[in-house]
Amino acid sequence: MSGKPLLVTCGLPYTNGPCHIGHLRTYVPADFYVRYLRRSGEEVVFVCGSDNHGTPIVISAEQEGSTPRALSERYHQHFFETFRRMKVVFDRFGMTDDPMNHETTRSMVQRLIENGHVYAKTISQSYCPDCERFLPDRYVEGICPHCGAVARGDECDQGCGQHLEPGEIKDAVCKVCGGKAEYREQEHYFFRLSAFRDFLLDYLPNLRGTATARNYALGWVKELLHDWCITRTLDWGVKFPGSDDLVVYVWVDAPIGYVSFTKEWAEAAGADWKDYWCDETGVTHFIGGDIIYHHCIFWPALLKGAGYGLPDAVVASGMVTIEGKKFSKSRGYVVWTNDDYLDQGLPADYLRYYLLSYTNHTKELDFSWKVYGERVNNEIVGTLGNFIYRTMYFAEKEFSGVPDLPVGPAILEEIERSLSGIDALMRDYDFKNAVDSMMALASFGNAYIQNNAPWKLIKEDRARAEQVIADCLQIVKALALIFEPLMPESMQRAWTMLGYDDDIAGHPIAEATAPVGARPLAKPSPLFVKIEEAQVKDLEKVLNVRVDEANAAAAKKKSTVSIEEFANLEIRTARVVSAEPIKGSKKLYKLVVDLGDEKRQVVSGIAQFYTPDELVGKDVAMIANLAPAKIFGVESRGMILAAGDEASLLVPLRPVSPGTPVR
Ligand code: MSP
Ligand code: ZN
Repeated sequence: MSGKPLLVTCGLPYTNGPCHIGHLRTYVPADFYVRYLRRSGEEVVFVCGSDNHGTPIVISAEQEGSTPRALSERYHQHFFETFRRMKVVFDRFGMTDDPMNHETTRSMVQRLIENGHVYAKTISQSYCPDCERFLPDRYVEGICPHCGAVARGDECDQGCGQHLEPGEIKDAVCKVCGGKAEYREQEHYFFRLSAFRDFLLDYLPNLRGTATARNYALGWVKELLHDWCITRTLDWGVKFPGSDDLVVYVWVDAPIGYVSFTKEWAEAAGADWKDYWCDETGVTHFIGGDIIYHHCIFWPALLKGAGYGLPDAVVASGMVTIEGKKFSKSRGYVVWTNDDYLDQGLPADYLRYYLLSYTNHTKELDFSWKVYGERVNNEIVGTLGNFIYRTMYFAEKEFSGVPDLPVGPAILEEIERSLSGIDALMRDYDFKNAVDSMMALASFGNAYIQNNAPWKLIKEDRARAEQVIADCLQIVKALALIFEPLMPESMQRAWTMLGYDDDIAGHPIAEATAPVGARPLAKPSPLFVKIEEAQVKDLEKVLNVRVDEANAAAAKKKSTVSIEEFANLEIRTARVVSAEPIKGSKKLYKLVVDLGDEKRQVVSGIAQFYTPDELVGKDVAMIANLAPAKIFGVESRGMILAAGDEASLLVPLRPVSPGTPVR
């Protein structure tokens, strides 16, 4: 700890779609961590809010005939309520479009300008002549100049993942009308990120949080830092100081939201926001691995440039995938938090447990209902629930309450040992191992009760049986306290079953070794219920149907082409003459192919699937009259055809000579 008051934040959800379980990997671990710190005696402020600006929200609003503000308010409310249902509770959940954030953003940008970190530059930007407007960010789709994948204007999210500056995208097409975009000159403002290289090289090695965040960021800084264009031609957003038709880029005002929401919280709580954001800070950002660049490079540089304190830690999770695929609404790969989970009557606590225990926090988490069901049944129900229920059942049945006996020292020692191990892991952001250690205490309890078999002992030595139960009840109390941050709802029930009539959250974990206290116990009921195999099948089915429907819709959406249009395509067989890797790309080969009458150079994204030897001499199908393009600086004149995710090449069944037309 840095000694400064602690503030924990979560990456702000965009207000253009509902909460899915991928989002939750930011919010649930952060809530777990905050609850844990609070139960360990620390004061922590926990703020978040919704991210309302940026082009996807404008586009979504346009599509549904609404306004970006109305759309944002609706999804803001949706996230707020979903988080509550998931027991993720913030001290403040604000909106980036609220006046406080407009004000804070403008003043910070003003400071950046005054401090000389912003300059104007005329750039060529994609512009749609039909729609008569500039096409910032997601208004434009085209080809990533770095890897050749289809990409949106500001990010290559299906390919190499790189951030794209305005005007960088190739073969730009307007997303609104589908027309070809052109490039036009316009004056924009840039943040001199490149000048922060030395600062970042100094700052990043000491940044706490997950090693992944630190190391990725250091790697990028060592390579190259580009200045960032921080203005966009849009109406929706925070007006750039001194300009009427420019707003600041959403990635400027979004993180500034963290500061604004702290201010909003502080105003209501009678605290001073400056204690949290000036000089050395105790700020910890929880985010997903997709936005490390923004939080570890861009954001600290902005704060530094505007004279604010710097984040103390960035905790970045691995991404959640589904059947190994990225979340994608349009492809059907998505599990909605409300519709698919909570509304099915599934408990928030189970999902919280699954998200934190399935795999290390920094690793990718491939969601599966089957594994979810196994985890719930074996660990939550089979280990934790089983131990608590057996203990409570026996205590009530044989002794009608908590025995008035001191607990054995070996038991207290075991609890202390377990708690101190968990504490070290939690402070190291090693949540999975912390949760495993928590579960290990439940397993210890199970082994203890099994080995001592009080149900047998009671017949020979009632006093000894009573001691065993007193010991087990102490373990139950410890489990309730240590599991509360992870499964607050169930542990409140365990607490009540133990005969306490207050809120478990008011008790520090340190009370785990304090006597339970002699008290009567009511008949217990099981804390958890199993997930039935049939239910797992049903849940899997919902997902499968969604993917199938998305595939069908995508197939239907492809419009028909006329025979004339088809005739315009020159498809020919091509014999591969040579194949060599392209420097800096894992995916691309530079191929030279023989078309009979000429040799051609083409760039093809098949390097992960074939060695050069496998390709040379093969006849493949290619589109020979595709407009030439430069990919990774290499000229490409044509496109090799391949099927599926693993790029299965289309080869002729009977021998043909190079360059044979395909009809
Ligand atoms: N609005 C930006 C964050 C701005 S922070 C100043 C954003 N929004 S988001 O809605 O796309 O994501 C919100 C949070 O959920 C982010 O922390 C993001 O990393 C996380 N995740 C969204 N999808 C995710 C997965 N599929 N897997 C793991 N985390 C993911 O990014
Ligand atoms: Zn790319």
